[in-house]
Amino acid sequence: MSIDSSSAALHPGAPVGTKPVIEAAADQAGRSLRHIAVVRVTHWIMAASVLGLLVSGGGILISHPRLYWGETGAVGTPSLVDLPLPFIIGPSVWNRPFHFFFAWMLVLTGLVYVASGVATRHFRKDLLPAKAELNWSSIAGVISAHLRWQRTSADEAWTYNVVQRLTYLGVVFVLFPGIVWTGLAMSFGVSSVFPILATAVGGFQSVRTLHFVFAPLLAIFLIVHIAMLCLVGFTSHVRAMITGYIPRRRSAR
Ligand code: HEM
Repeated sequence: MSIDSSSAALHPGAPVGTKPVIEAAADQAGRSLRHIAVVRVTHWIMAASVLGLLVSGGGILISHPRLYWGETGAVGTPSLVDLPLPFIIGPSVWNRPFHFFFAWMLVLTGLVYVASGVATRHFRKDLLPAKAELNWSSIAGVISAHLRWQRTSADEAWTYNVVQRLTYLGVVFVLFPGIVWTGLAMSFGVSSVFPILATAVGGFQSVRTLHFVFAPLLAIFLIVHIAMLCLVGFTSHVRAMITGYIPRRRSAR
């Protein structure tokens, strides 16, 4: 579909060059569909998995809060980073099964989300930024407006702004694969079959360190994600992610 004309029709406030998320016409009750069911269900399962992974991952990290680079590392050898945390073994033991449970939940749900996003062209239609938005002035404009806690016209129009689009694509196609790769590479079963997963970056300790670089990035994403929802209207947007529909009274935030 032609993005500019249809976007303007659906979202009178949207800047030229932005793409609409809402493709469906309003139903008989006058409601517009914002998120299809598979996006909603997979979103909440992935969000729960990430929260579970962050909590259980913290419990595992605390058993050895030091990071190394290369193949080996241990107490008594030089470290890359000494995190200011105490060494506590106990929580690591019982957090591991939870961590693996949430990891597989994220992987399987993520695969469903990506497969359906490709099949329904959701990524192309709703998340890929328009060429006109892909320039530093658009990106810097959105960031600077948000830093000043101001909404952009794309925010007003119930579409994703260029920064949201790039961030969501980055989380789904860079951060998640990075976390899964470094997590799998730490499994001796997997890395004995595919040693390249660890040796590509220098060894077991390097992938462990990268795993703990990706995890805080995901935590930062979550904090910014929630902050941005507060800016555009937390209740109405979360309700749309639960019910699928944009609340009819947009003022009800
Ligand atoms: C770390 C966990 C989370 C991840 C990885 C995540 C990721 C995402 C992604 C990729 C999208 C775009 C979905 C699409 O259209 O395909 C999205 C949208 C959204 N997320 Fe999350 N999310 C997380 C947690 C949360 C939480 C905790 C909330 C609310 C309590 C939330 C509320 C929303 C809402 C309301 C949208 C739609 C935004 C809008 O309408 O502008 N998310 N999220």
